[in-house]
Amino acid sequence: MNVTVTGAGGQIGYALLFRIASGQMFGPTTPVNLRLLEIPAGLAAAAGTALELEDCAFPLLRDVMVTDDPTRAFDGVNVALLVGSRPRGIGEERVALLEGNGRIFGPHGTAINAGAASDVRVLVVGNPANTNALVAAAFAPDIPAERFTALTRLDHNRGVAQLAVHLGVHVSEIDGLAIWGNHSATQYPDVFHATAAGRPVRELVDEDWLAGTFIPRVEKRGYEIITARGASSAGSAAEATIDHVYDWVHGTGERWTSAAIVSDGSYGVPEGLVCSFPVRSVEGQWQVVQGLELNAFSRARIDASVAELIEERDHVRALGLLPTAR
Ligand code: NAD
Ligand code: LMR
Repeated sequence: MNVTVTGAGGQIGYALLFRIASGQMFGPTTPVNLRLLEIPAGLAAAAGTALELEDCAFPLLRDVMVTDDPTRAFDGVNVALLVGSRPRGIGEERVALLEGNGRIFGPHGTAINAGAASDVRVLVVGNPANTNALVAAAFAPDIPAERFTALTRLDHNRGVAQLAVHLGVHVSEIDGLAIWGNHSATQYPDVFHATAAGRPVRELVDEDWLAGTFIPRVEKRGYEIITARGASSAGSAAEATIDHVYDWVHGTGERWTSAAIVSDGSYGVPEGLVCSFPVRSVEGQWQVVQGLELNAFSRARIDASVAELIEERDHVRALGLLPTAR
């Protein structure tokens, strides 16, 4: 398995690479080659991490390459983890990163299009993740759109954890939670189809708690972490990255999770937007959970987040960050 991690010298890179090399992403029998892509300023940190990877003597780790050349980094890649990009700081919304970070994803999309393996899977972690994934996919016209995804699994895991604490159940007893929309403060964590230890969550919580506590807590958790630790989430972001790829490759069975995928028009989300949906992974492909009834409370929140995704798409288009032909 050839795995490319961009921004490998950064904090998520450091939290992620050892876990991939130890087998947590692909399982205990799949050898991995790691390609660590950085900009020149980050090469020394990435090279240092490569030394530590060597010191772990991981039985599954075959080869580690450190480079600032996207063409080399993405040549033959099976799984591309696009982490490299600036995190927001205190007082910023993720959308403020759009112009600077958006410029990174066109060239990476082009290099993936040129050199990736035919089964490539791409996960964008760098913010604003949904629209960066839209940009990367637009520059990779030869790769099926469903191979481009963005990370909302962290939001999903946060929602599961908050519900479990509130209801006094174990996290493994929560199912059917859904994150809809953008990985931003407009995202909508939807519990109306969720169960806790087999009981419908909607019967266990009231709307005041949902609207006043649960939803804002999940939506703003990234910012809560930034203010608490003085840096954006890294350990939990790495965990969610592992979870997303593990489930994509191995399948979820009947269990739901959430992932931002290229919309096929389901639930009225305009085709082509990279939007978070409730999904299952079946035979290596994400499938939107279909046929859910959405009440007015949910519909209004999903529509607001989708409207933000449309604005972001129009913004990157106006900045000239999308190819003109598509
Ligand atoms: P960091 O600043 O610690 O590391 C980012 C690294 O990316 C740096 O080493 C930098 O040199 C590198 N980089 C910048 N431009 C690059 C390029 N063109 N090619 C390759 N590497 C490049 O940041 P971090 O804490 O690791 O976070 C990375 C990104 O992930 C941020 O945008 C952050 O907001 C985002 N994030 C997303 C989620 C999510 O749930 N989607 C969660 C946490 C963080
Ligand atoms: C998160 O959700 O923790 C990340 O997207 C970092 C951020 O900017 O909130």
